[in-house]
Amino acid sequence: MHGLAWLLLALSWCDLSRGYFSEERWSPESRLLAPRVLVALICRNSEHSLPYFLGTVERLNYPKERMALWVATDHNEDNTTDILREWLTKVQNLYHYVEWRPKEEPEFYDDEEDGPKQWTNQRYEHVMKLRQVALESAREMWADYFLLVDCDNLITNPDVLWKLMKENKTIVAPMLESRAAYSNFWCGMTSQGYYKRTPAYLPMRKQVRKGCFAVPMVHSTFLIDLRKEASRQLAFHPPHPEYSWAFDDIIVFAYSARMADVQMFVCNKETYGYFPVPLRSHNTLQDEADSFLHTLLEVNVRNPPVMPSKYLPVPAKHPDKMGFDEVFMINLKRRTDRRDRMLRTLRQLEIDSKVIAAVDGKAMNTSEIHALGIHMLPGYSDPYHGRPLTKGELGCFLSHYNIWKEIVERGLQTSLVIEDDLRFEVFFKRRLMNLMSEVEKEGLDWILSTLAGRGCKLITERKLCLIYTTWWRRIIPIGHWDT
Ligand SMILES: *[C@@H]1O[C@H](CO)[C@@H](O)[C@H](O)[C@H]1NC(C)=O
Ligand SMILES: *[C@@H]1O[C@H](CO)[C@@H](O)[C@H](O)[C@H]1NC(C)=O
Ligand SMILES: *[C@@H]1O[C@H](CO)[C@@H](O)[C@H](O)[C@H]1NC(C)=O
Repeated sequence: MHGLAWLLLALSWCDLSRGYFSEERWSPESRLLAPRVLVALICRNSEHSLPYFLGTVERLNYPKERMALWVATDHNEDNTTDILREWLTKVQNLYHYVEWRPKEEPEFYDDEEDGPKQWTNQRYEHVMKLRQVALESAREMWADYFLLVDCDNLITNPDVLWKLMKENKTIVAPMLESRAAYSNFWCGMTSQGYYKRTPAYLPMRKQVRKGCFAVPMVHSTFLIDLRKEASRQLAFHPPHPEYSWAFDDIIVFAYSARMADVQMFVCNKETYGYFPVPLRSHNTLQDEADSFLHTLLEVNVRNPPVMPSKYLPVPAKHPDKMGFDEVFMINLKRRTDRRDRMLRTLRQLEIDSKVIAAVDGKAMNTSEIHALGIHMLPGYSDPYHGRPLTKGELGCFLSHYNIWKEIVERGLQTSLVIEDDLRFEVFFKRRLMNLMSEVEKEGLDWILSTLAGRGCKLITERKLCLIYTTWWRRIIPIGHWDT
């Protein structure tokens, strides 16, 4: 468009001037500078997520000199303050401005009875006040936008800022994915301001309907356009004078938006990021770390892995075999993608494994198969698909068979065998180890069990899926335990 307009102008100039200054050119108008964005990071006990979280902040495809960072942390019992300080020291020169508000003491809120995952009134109030101070800083420095991101939200789409700005809304959130139906928006609200599931929710959450939708609540990650007049009425704290709903940070802010006549929007046109499902009051920081780790691994199922910040050391991992004599991981040599993902996943979960090269059934011809003494049962057909065994399935069987031989040769008592396309449930390692210690305690006499199979989750709450591989399952059901 610009090119064409310029060409037309240039031609008419040539025409008028008859070649006078024919080499003269006009430059098109320069682009605008990127709008100014203040990013507010309010972190607590986030040591486990910070290297990855800050990696995603660093990689936002947005000019850093047009961004300010407003970072606060307090009430930590872990190393959050040190990690944030180290990161800010390294990146501060890249950004327009950095405000740093650490507070080392105290480590807890007085009214915290269940532990650091509990949201007490003191904590709600403190977080609301911090957000309000951050918002006021953004207004004072005449920022165009205010971006709030919780410190365990993984923004995997680096263009998210530009995409949200293009929507031209006062408050807009990128829909975040989680391992469950949970996301960072509500579709319905009760008259008391609580969450209400409505029929519109799931089609949006599952991206059956795509777009940007007016919703009564967004939280965790969202962008406020401070150039919109109505944004001046928005406040995280204090609650609106007429506020009578629950004392809860997100509800207080949603009410403030409602009173300012500002509509909240959530966009799900693309995948923008992932976040963990919130835990309960009684959960521990270890639970939180494991839950975040699961989120990190889930991202890698359909996306490239989330890399940690290049400015921070990655904590050392200490893999073990979880009490098994051996952990075998079967991988077809040519599937390096699967091997890489699985080894990365196992390293993250601190599980030590031995990679076994799978037998490539598809590369075997009939005489080779017969030479191994393998003959198809006459008339055998797969009960699911009504077809004979495929060469892929045969290769799968032979791979497991080779492992059984190794188990016998090495005299291994207990082994775990996994294939390279497994997707782990949250708390996998801990649940499996608990299960094995229960089995030991009960003195159960077990030979072979399966933890995964089509249609069942790795270790579900109540029951174990029984089958060793999807192919095996249909042939040898072993029985099941209630855990
Ligand atoms: C805390 O983080 C700092 C900075 O990353 C690091 O030097 C220090 O060793 C860490 N301390 C612990 C106990 O992890
Ligand atoms: C964005 O919205 C404002 C009203 O809030 C409107 O004046 C403006 O023209 C819109 N910008 C674009 C590019 O649509
Ligand atoms: C099967 O493969 C083996 C080893 O590659 C080869 O020697 C043999 O000729 C093949 N047989 C047939 C029938 O293709």
